Amino acid sequence: MRKPIMAANWKMNKTSMEAVKFMQELANLIDNDNNDVEVVVCPPFTALRSLSTMIDIDKLNVKLGAQNMHWEPSGAYTGEISALMLNDLRVDYVIIGHSERRQYFLETDEIINKKVHAVMDNGMRVIMCVGESLEQREAGQTQGHIINQVNNGLAGVTREQLTDVVIAYEPIWAIGTGRSATPDDANEVCRLIRDRVSALYDQTCAEDIRVLYGGSVSPANVNDLMTQPDIDGGLVGGASLEPKSYSELITGAMKVCQRS
Ligand code: PGA
Repeated sequence: MRKPIMAANWKMNKTSMEAVKFMQELANLIDNDNNDVEVVVCPPFTALRSLSTMIDIDKLNVKLGAQNMHWEPSGAYTGEISALMLNDLRVDYVIIGHSERRQYFLETDEIINKKVHAVMDNGMRVIMCVGESLEQREAGQTQGHIINQVNNGLAGVTREQLTDVVIAYEPIWAIGTGRSATPDDANEVCRLIRDRVSALYDQTCAEDIRVLYGGSVSPANVNDLMTQPDIDGGLVGGASLEPKSYSELITGAMKVCQRS
């Protein structure tokens, strides 16, 4: 049974004080003994320290994620953050290859692959994002594009390392637009990703890997998305910024556990 994940990607939102306030409110809304869903909060780098301390002191059942990192261990890379620095803050997950990084910061599949390796080499887990643009979807290029992104992103990743990889399917046209993919369409691409993992590794790996959907996930559509057989949770931007709606998404992800 794959354990669902409900990951909050806050992007460039919230000061560390706001992050702490959010976490206090969230803690009152969710069951801290929940063992069914992995709750992963990915704040900006500047809030990682305060949330890490809070999670530790209050024994919160929440994992910490970062939104990006550099692949080199240290050096002259002004403005960058290394795996060692994140590990030091007890970060569990690192989002790699988000479409905003690909689009605005020109991250290529090659860069993403280096980062994927650096995350795992430092004992953390990866949420690797893939997704097609609207033009690619309309031109019927979704499948080929996703297959390429998965092949290139996972290049050199061993079968053993794959247990530390989560793949998030995020169609670019659905991100922040309020226009989510339909549950069937989202599931179809998540299935495709699983089939690709089967081709690259084997069927057991394909059945074990967690594949998330992201792109305008909200309390209104979370149930329909999460009950799809190949969707193991969500990577959520806008709807994760308020404790109430995020807590509803976590409850929605619990539905994944109830599917047969
Ligand atoms: P959204 O963002 O939920 O605001 O569409 C998702 C993401 O970019 O991860």
